[in-house]
Amino acid sequence: MKTSFSRRDFVRLGSAAMVASAAASAAADKVTVLPAEMQAATERKIRFASIGTGIRGCDLLRSAAKVPNCECLGTADLYTMHQKAGQEAYGKDIPTMRDYRSLLDRKDVDAVIVAVADFQHGRVVLDCLDAGKDVYCEKPMSHNVADGLAMVDAVAKNKRIFQAGSQRVSNVVYRKAAEIYKAGRLGQVTLIEGHTDRNSDSGAWVYPIAPDANPETIDWKAWLGDAPERPFDAARFFRWRCFADYGEGVAGDLYVHLLSGMQCVSGINAIPSRAYSTGSLTHFKDGRDFPDLLATLYDYPGVAVSLHCNQNNDAAGDTTIFYGHEGTLTIKGSTLTFAPQETRPQPEWYSTDGWTAEAKKKYYDDWSAAHPQKGSEPALTETYASPQGYDDTAAHLGNFFRAVETREKVVEDEVFGNNAAIACHMANASYFHRAVAVWDAESKTIKS
Ligand SMILES: NC(=O)c1ccc[n+]([C@@H]2O[C@H](COP(=O)([O-])OP(=O)(O)OC[C@H]3O[C@@H](n4cnc5c(N)ncnc54)[C@H](O)[C@@H]3O)[C@@H](O)[C@H]2O)c1
Repeated sequence: MKTSFSRRDFVRLGSAAMVASAAASAAADKVTVLPAEMQAATERKIRFASIGTGIRGCDLLRSAAKVPNCECLGTADLYTMHQKAGQEAYGKDIPTMRDYRSLLDRKDVDAVIVAVADFQHGRVVLDCLDAGKDVYCEKPMSHNVADGLAMVDAVAKNKRIFQAGSQRVSNVVYRKAAEIYKAGRLGQVTLIEGHTDRNSDSGAWVYPIAPDANPETIDWKAWLGDAPERPFDAARFFRWRCFADYGEGVAGDLYVHLLSGMQCVSGINAIPSRAYSTGSLTHFKDGRDFPDLLATLYDYPGVAVSLHCNQNNDAAGDTTIFYGHEGTLTIKGSTLTFAPQETRPQPEWYSTDGWTAEAKKKYYDDWSAAHPQKGSEPALTETYASPQGYDDTAAHLGNFFRAVETREKVVEDEVFGNNAAIACHMANASYFHRAVAVWDAESKTIKS
């Protein structure tokens, strides 16, 4: 991984007070930043297929269209409108079909982007790997622990490149944060906090049902796959995140981004040993399985991690904070602030409130004599922001396509993605079992 960044990679803002005006001036700088290691290694274009062209699949195709070393050969989706939307998103009349298997049979397809609903990741990814394709799979990598472990094994068995799709791992702001963290500028970090909070129907996945949705336009049986049988239900098709048969609620949708960012910055690429969740479902009582507030405390090696996602108040926004003895890193949206802590020795002052003036004076005189060196002032707060128009999904795809070509490591491989996904499953296990969820490394299962 590159450890320093050019001026073009992000905008450095002198102080917190200057953020607003400097970010505004950066608005003119409409660039898609691809740091060197994310750029194509040669002129050859990687040919890929895309499976799942709904909300995210379309975003990925729009971003892929900006990455120079790739070319989409075709897409598959089980819903007619999403098939057409995928073609529109890519801006080319590429072949599109319902059954993805004929795309996997094509020898000229090097790689596949998988952007189907979470519960379909396992099946589709295993099919892609068995067909010899490299895979970019959307987050969270797995719907459950067994799915994730099977994918990790299949990547190794087939010797494929696999990138999990939490794009903030490629984001210049997170990578700058990682540089600061790894340089030791925070001192010992004991607590990491993250939250993604919202307060809207959209933020709670109350997505509209498209008027043309019916059993002719959607292949419901194929969509259900291995999930429990049930009659056609458009609400479940569009709002699958709300239901445990298909999604993992806020943990799989939002914690996974916080956890991937945390792993990227701290270098902790591990499964937490324990997780304890609390939460509630108070507002979106529409038949969903998941809470609209989830808060979790994790034990990671050497550090406590505290996450929450609240779908009923957005004041805290999307923020991750790394608290170290010597400094604090805060990433809020696309802005990073590093604030050094005051760590110069200080005389203890509170307890002397109960001392006489004479005793106090002697204590302070003695303290000053024992500490002749005052040390230097803490450094100024540093603030960085990505330029407006910056597309971290394009950067993440760029990193993947480059790795497909060079066979070098991606920034977010199957082990990294699986670790983050298992932490999401632990958060849900704890919430639903009302108990601490413990990762049992020997049996590779969650005990709660
Ligand atoms: N990285 C991000 O920021 C981000 C953002 C949104 C969603 N996601 C992830 O992207 C994935 C897709 O989410 P979405 O919001 O686009 O969902 P969606 O429901 O809008 O789209 C999923 C599409 O996959 C299709 N599909 C499902 N099974 C299929 C199969 N077997 N063959 C072909 N097509 C199939 C469906 O028909 C649907 O059109 C999820 O894993 C989600 O968690 C990631």
